[in-house]
Amino acid sequence: PSARPFEGKIVTISAGGTREPLDPVRFLGNRSSGRQGVAIAQAALDAGADVRFVAAHMDVPAPEGVILTTASTALELHEAVFEAARGADVLIMNAAVADFRPSEYADSKIKKQDDHADPIIHLVRNPDILADVVAERDANDFSTLPPLIVGFAAETGDTSGSVLEYGAAKLARKGCEMLVVNQVGQSLVFGQDTNSVTILSADGTAPVEFSGTKSEVAEVLLETIAARVDSQDK
Ligand code: C5P
Repeated sequence: PSARPFEGKIVTISAGGTREPLDPVRFLGNRSSGRQGVAIAQAALDAGADVRFVAAHMDVPAPEGVILTTASTALELHEAVFEAARGADVLIMNAAVADFRPSEYADSKIKKQDDHADPIIHLVRNPDILADVVAERDANDFSTLPPLIVGFAAETGDTSGSVLEYGAAKLARKGCEMLVVNQVGQSLVFGQDTNSVTILSADGTAPVEFSGTKSEVAEVLLETIAARVDSQDK
């Protein structure tokens, strides 16, 4: 295999965590730092890809050399990912997207109530961006959405059954070509430099298990993807 297997390829990567506003100063967010997504973008650049990077909120800067767009909420990210995914060869959906958003946005800061009543926040479902991209692509024979879509699944270890069973079910549910399953927790993965992943493929290729730095994980992921991009060209 060539040292730059992604030469001439467009790779779209989403990264970071969305924020769902409650009022002008508050939001519901998550612990995603963007580090794994940045490492994937860097590995893709190093492998010769043109990288479109869709950044939600991150603790680290996007790598130099990417085409950068930003999004804050899940709804904004939905639009930005669709736009950046059109015409791309690969979509890697690494962003941590809020599954729910507050149903109402308060135009001014929510105040403590005089009667000491506990405020109630109602949540509504956000769209599943990954599933929507797959669905639109698969509904259209001439779609320019990527033939190879990679999802991520963050597990907190409370799932019954094995990672493989659980991952296979999620892969099938999302309809994407590959799924990267990783264990997360307050002190695991988020903000850390290391990661432990299982890469599952829908085509029946054996799962790839790997632990290492986020850069090493990114390289292994890109190698696994490159093997499939090559076979698509044939
Ligand atoms: O279902 P779950 O949230 O575990 O799936 C994670 C995968 O789905 C990630 O690739 C994430 O980027 C994507 N996702 C999404 N839109 C959502 C929730 C998750 O695209 N609303």
